[in-house]
Formats: sequence, C-alpha cells, structure tokens
Amino acid sequence: MSYPEIRPRRLRRNAAVRRLVSETRVDPAELVVPMFVKEGLTEPRAVASLPGVLQHSRDSLRKAAVEAVQAGVGGIMLFGVPATRDETGSGGIDPDGILNVAIRDVIAEVGDATVVMSDLCLDEFTSHGHCGLLTPDGTVDNDATLEAYARMAVAQADAGVHVVGPSGMMDGQVGAARRALDAAGHQDVSILAYAVKYASGFFGPFRDAVESALEGDRSAYQQDPANLRESLREVELDVAEGADMVMVKPALPYLDVVAAVRAAVNVPVAAYQVSGEYAMVEAAAANGWIDRERVIMETLTSIRRAGAQIILTYWAVEAAQLLRQRY
Ligand code: PBG
Repeated sequence: MSYPEIRPRRLRRNAAVRRLVSETRVDPAELVVPMFVKEGLTEPRAVASLPGVLQHSRDSLRKAAVEAVQAGVGGIMLFGVPATRDETGSGGIDPDGILNVAIRDVIAEVGDATVVMSDLCLDEFTSHGHCGLLTPDGTVDNDATLEAYARMAVAQADAGVHVVGPSGMMDGQVGAARRALDAAGHQDVSILAYAVKYASGFFGPFRDAVESALEGDRSAYQQDPANLRESLREVELDVAEGADMVMVKPALPYLDVVAAVRAAVNVPVAAYQVSGEYAMVEAAAANGWIDRERVIMETLTSIRRAGAQIILTYWAVEAAQLLRQRY
C-alpha cells in the first residue's frame, strides 16, 4: 500500500464509529402505515398473502390507530373494503361508505396526533375493480373519472382526513382534486400524489387484502415498468397541478426512479413499499432463508438512501418499535 495508507475500514471498526458516520437513518416519524378496514366485520381478519396485516373491523381499526400513534409513526394511510360494489363505485363518495366512516373514526380517536391519509381511488368500490368509470366499450373513461374523484376527495375531506392520496393514475387527477377541495373550503387538506405508479405484479397481495374484483390489468393507465423519463413527466405535471408531496410506487424495484424524482423536485418524495415487496420478505423469512428484521431494516434504509423522505410500509409500526429499541 502507498503512504498514507487509505483504510476505509477504520470507520467501520465498531458500532459507535459506524453510528457516527452513518449517512442514512430511518426515523419512525417518516414511516406511514397502510391499514385496511372492511365493512361489516366484527373481528379483524388475517390476509393470507400478507402475514401480519389485517382487514380491520371499525373497532379494531381505532385500536390499531392508537397503537400506531404510540409507536410514533408519521402517518396512517386508510383503505376501505366495502360490503357491496357497483359500476360507478358510489360507495367511495357516499359519506356513509366504509372509507369515509373509517376516516371519521380514526380522526375521532387520534385527532392531529398523526397524519391521517386516505386512498383516493375507485378500485375498491367498483364491481369491475378498475380505478375509474368505464365507457360502454370497457375502457376507463379518464374525464368522467375525474368528476368522481373530485366528489370523493370532498367526501374524504368532509370526514376530516388530513391528506388525500389520488392513486388511480388518471391524467389531471391532482388538479381535479385540488380544485374540488378548494371550492369546498378544504384548502388545508393536502395531496400526496401517487405521481409515479407502475403497472406492477408486486400489487398482488394488496388485491387479496381489498378483495379486488379486477379482471385483466391496469396497463392502460398505470405506467410501463420499462420507463423512467415518463415518470419525471408525471411528477412534473402533478407538481404543476398542486401536489404537495409526490410518491413513487413500488419502491425497492424502482430505486433509480426514486433517486431521479428526488433530484427533479423540491416537494417531499414518498415511496410505497408495496404488498408484494412485503410478502416476499415474509415468505423467505418464514422459511428461515433470511434474517427477517435485518432484511426489513435494510430495505427501509435503501429506500431512504435512494431519496425517499417518507416511506409507506406495512412494517411501519413494527419498524418504529424496533428503531426505538435500537437508539
Ligand atoms: C389503488 C391502489 C393499489 C395499491 C395502492 N392503491 C392497487 C392497484 O393499483 O392495483 C397497491 C398497494 C400495495 O400493493 O401494497 N387503490
């Protein structure tokens, strides 16, 4: 070796020095936990493909929200599973629809102690499982869907939600939600835009969790996994339409996209570690093939390192508890 000898290992010699020079930390305040609530349940129910994740009853949701707040998570993203569905997804707009009722429940329970968010999309509420209204020939009608999203955004804001998350990948959805919220006096409700959402096989277990009725796929509105520049265009449009925060989804297979989006905008960037990412780790860990907690923390650290400030993850509550023990 030449003199002076350069030895990067000096900064790895023990836990104290590694902690001192660590470039990336995961903080519970930046984790958001997705939660499912199903209409009519009296007891929470397990989701087979998402071990550890529950379809909540209204009661168990309230308790889980309190537990999440106690763990220190930054937010809760709510998804509703209705008992019945129709062509237009009217249950998403109905103030008595399960998601709107759940928003009221959670707000009544935790108030402003965490950030309460809701999925702004029709797919849980439509009988065909698509994210919007269908034309007679079966394609998703972008502009008719925007009107439905606008009403749904207002219904969620009326229920007290802090942040709406438009996730249907319709063109103009952020602007439509912003205009409707403002017109209804909800200027303070924020928009976390699912700006970059790929037509991904990693959403499989989520569709079990919401008992999705979808046949076929969403490739005519969600993005092609092959594309990166298109993501930057989507992000630019959403910021121009008034997105307060933008999200990339899925997370781990798209870290290059997370990094590019981070470099392109100055609003907070979130990434959604989706159901399939979670299920793969849980399945391998259940087989004893990987060290579960270590891999969970490694995935979260990687998503942070790529540039996501906020991470939606089904491990949020557990990870927050683990982080508390560690530091
Ligand atoms: C749409 C929505 C989906 C997810 C979040 N919001 C499903 C889809 O686009 O098919 C997937 C989340 C996950 O896989 O964890 N409402």
